[in-house]
Amino acid sequence: MTSYSTYLSKEKEDELRTIAQAIVASGKGILAADESTGSMDKRLQPLGLENTEENRRVYRQMLFTGNDELSNYISGVIMFEETFYQKTDDGTPFVELLKKKNIIPGIKLDKGVVPLAGTLGEGTTQGLDGLSARCAQFKKDGAQFAKWRCVHKISSHTPSTLAYVEVANVLARYASICQQNGLVPIVEPEVLCDGDHDIERCQMVTEETLAYTYKALADHHVFLEGTLLKPNMVTPGQQASKRASPEEVAIATVTALRRRVPAAAPGVVFLSGGQSELDATKYLNAINSVKLGRPWALTFSYGRALQSSCLSTWGGKPENIEAAKEVLLKRARANGAAAQGKYSDSADGAPAAAAESLFVADHAY
Ligand code: 13P
Repeated sequence: MTSYSTYLSKEKEDELRTIAQAIVASGKGILAADESTGSMDKRLQPLGLENTEENRRVYRQMLFTGNDELSNYISGVIMFEETFYQKTDDGTPFVELLKKKNIIPGIKLDKGVVPLAGTLGEGTTQGLDGLSARCAQFKKDGAQFAKWRCVHKISSHTPSTLAYVEVANVLARYASICQQNGLVPIVEPEVLCDGDHDIERCQMVTEETLAYTYKALADHHVFLEGTLLKPNMVTPGQQASKRASPEEVAIATVTALRRRVPAAAPGVVFLSGGQSELDATKYLNAINSVKLGRPWALTFSYGRALQSSCLSTWGGKPENIEAAKEVLLKRARANGAAAQGKYSDSADGAPAAAAESLFVADHAY
C-alpha cells in the first residue's frame, strides 16, 4: 500500500495559509522588483545608467523607501538575491525596511529559462539543485514567499506536450520544496504574448497550461491554500490584427481561471507581461468587475506595469527621486483600486507614457 508520510504539519499549513491570505488581502498586490542583474540592463540602459551593483541598489532603495501609504496597496515585494541582501544608505537591510513598513519580503528562486532539447525553441526553468537549503536560508533571513517563473510560447506547433508536462512538473517540485521550508510559492506558468494568435487561442493554451499545472500540484501533494498563482491575462498576441477590449480580456481570463483553478487556491496575482501601465490597470479592473463568480482574490504582481513611469521620471537623477516615488505610489493606488473593481480612468492622473506598450520580445527576467 502506498503511504504518504511527508504531508505538512498543521502548524506549517496554518503559517502558509496566513502568509498567502495576507499577500492577497483586499485592495493589495505585489511589486515584482526581482529583475536579475542581466534584466536590469534593459531598465537602466535607456536612462544612460551603467548597470552597476550601486545603481541597482539606489534604484531599489527608491522603490522601497516611499511614503508609508504604499503599504495600503503593496502587500509584498519580490526581490532578486542580490537585492534581498542589500541595504539603504543608512545601513538598514531592505528586508528589515520592508518588514517595518508592513510589506512582506519575497525572493525569486528560479535561475532562469534554459532550452528544452528537441523542441521548437521551447524552454524549461532551472534552479532545483540545492533549492531546499536555499529556501531554508531565505526563510531564516526574512523571506515569507517565493517566485519561480516558467514560460510557454504560442506558435503553430507550441506549446508541445513535453513543455506542458515539464513546466508543470518543475513548478510543482519547486512549490513542494518551498512549502516544506515555510515559504509560500508563487507558481508562475506564463504564456507569453509574443505572436499573432487571437484571444481564443490564448485562452485555450492558458486553460491547458493551468490544467497541467494543477494536476502536477496535486500529484506533488502541494497544499493549495498556501500557494498563489501568477498567470498571464488572456489577451490576443502582441502582433494580432484584432485587439480586445478590457471586457473581452476579463471574460476570457476569468472563464479560463474558473475552468481550471481550484477554489481552494486563495489568490491569483497577474503579471503584466508587456501591457502598458494603463492597460494593466484597466484589465485588472475589468477582471474584478465581470459578472462571473470568482472564489479567489484576483490582484496584481506587476513588474514593468508598476515601475515603468517611476523609472523614467527618476531618470537616474537624485533630484527626481521624490517625484518618482510619487509616480510609483499613484500606480500602486490605481492597481489597488482595480483589484477591487473600483478603478476610475478619469481619476488616474497617469503621465501619457503610461499608455505606451512595455512589450519586450521573448522577455526574460
Ligand atoms: P511583468 O509585470 O513585467 O510581466 O513582470 C512580472 C513578473 O514578475 C514576471 O515574472
